[in-house]
Amino acid sequence: MTEPHRRGVLARWAEVLPLTPQTPRITLGEGETPLVRSVAIERELGLDELWFKLESSNPTGSFKDRGMVVAVAKAIERGSKAVLCASTGNTSASAAAYAAHCGIEASILVPEGRVAAGKLAQAVAFGARIVEVEGSFDDALRLALEVVETQPIALVNSVNPDRIEGQKTAAYEICETLTDAPDALAIPVGNAGNITAYWKGFVECAALDYASLHPRMLGFQAAGAAPIVQGAPVENPQTVATAIRIGKPASWKTAEQARDESGGLIEAVTDEEILDAYRLLASKEGLFVEPASAASVAGLRKLNRAGALQGGRIVAVLTGSGLKDPETAKEHNAIDVVRAPATLEGVQRALGV
Ligand code: F0G
Repeated sequence: MTEPHRRGVLARWAEVLPLTPQTPRITLGEGETPLVRSVAIERELGLDELWFKLESSNPTGSFKDRGMVVAVAKAIERGSKAVLCASTGNTSASAAAYAAHCGIEASILVPEGRVAAGKLAQAVAFGARIVEVEGSFDDALRLALEVVETQPIALVNSVNPDRIEGQKTAAYEICETLTDAPDALAIPVGNAGNITAYWKGFVECAALDYASLHPRMLGFQAAGAAPIVQGAPVENPQTVATAIRIGKPASWKTAEQARDESGGLIEAVTDEEILDAYRLLASKEGLFVEPASAASVAGLRKLNRAGALQGGRIVAVLTGSGLKDPETAKEHNAIDVVRAPATLEGVQRALGV
């Protein structure tokens, strides 16, 4: 028999993860996400190849599950009975899911307001203890770090190196599927753990001869939350892409390292550019992502307009599902619903047939 599909990150990538015989081999079926070829945006950008890594296909609908499965397994291995994280929504949904799966407690600190409804609904369903902090994500992360100084709770934010280890497996999968690394990787940047993780993965793949090249890392922040681009923390970050509404990224230095060592860049895209890419991905590619995920495509389009997009083969990471944020979908799409009586004639008239 062939291997079952979606064995999970711990089983699939054991040889490149910090596992021991005592690490519980938990899984919700994360990883091994699709790499889908663009049908429209590739042509618009004049690229040889544009691929989308659909991280929305993970069990809780975002890339966070790759790192969370490792972080929760290692926390359990070390004897933890509870996990804690600060989050703009996806990390907390993922932490809550794996905690529920493993029968341990999850506590989450979310910034007040602005967490997308679907993400909060997940945390509620999974039974997390939810604390809404009267402040920003950056305040919530600072407080989470302070709490774990005195409490026996495992912090599962991406400052936890186990998270980065798990998330780097996406780079391995891309190299495996394409049989090499791409020329460039486009990725949204918030707390900057994911760009750090991908770069680590690509460097390892090249060292292991799974890839012949290192991709340029093209990171994109939202213009109202672009501390790395501006070179200074942002006091009151604002963006429609609430997942990356972060003013002081924890992995700032390693994101700059990924940018510089790869010969890449980290630039800003406006909310308008993000929403244009968000609508384009859905209407021309059939890919419904959350606004933060569209920042990667918005960034490629912006570089192209400026004549600064180098060709070749590019992978854009689509980090989370559009279903996470139904309000934005309703607010930023023209809703065109025609009412019809429940008769054949009425429906035909409404259909214009
Ligand atoms: N895309 C989505 C959908 C995210 O949820 C995040 C981060 C990012 C991109 C950026 O990744 O932080 O590693 O640079 N979300 C975190 C959270 C902050 O709490 O869910 P990053």
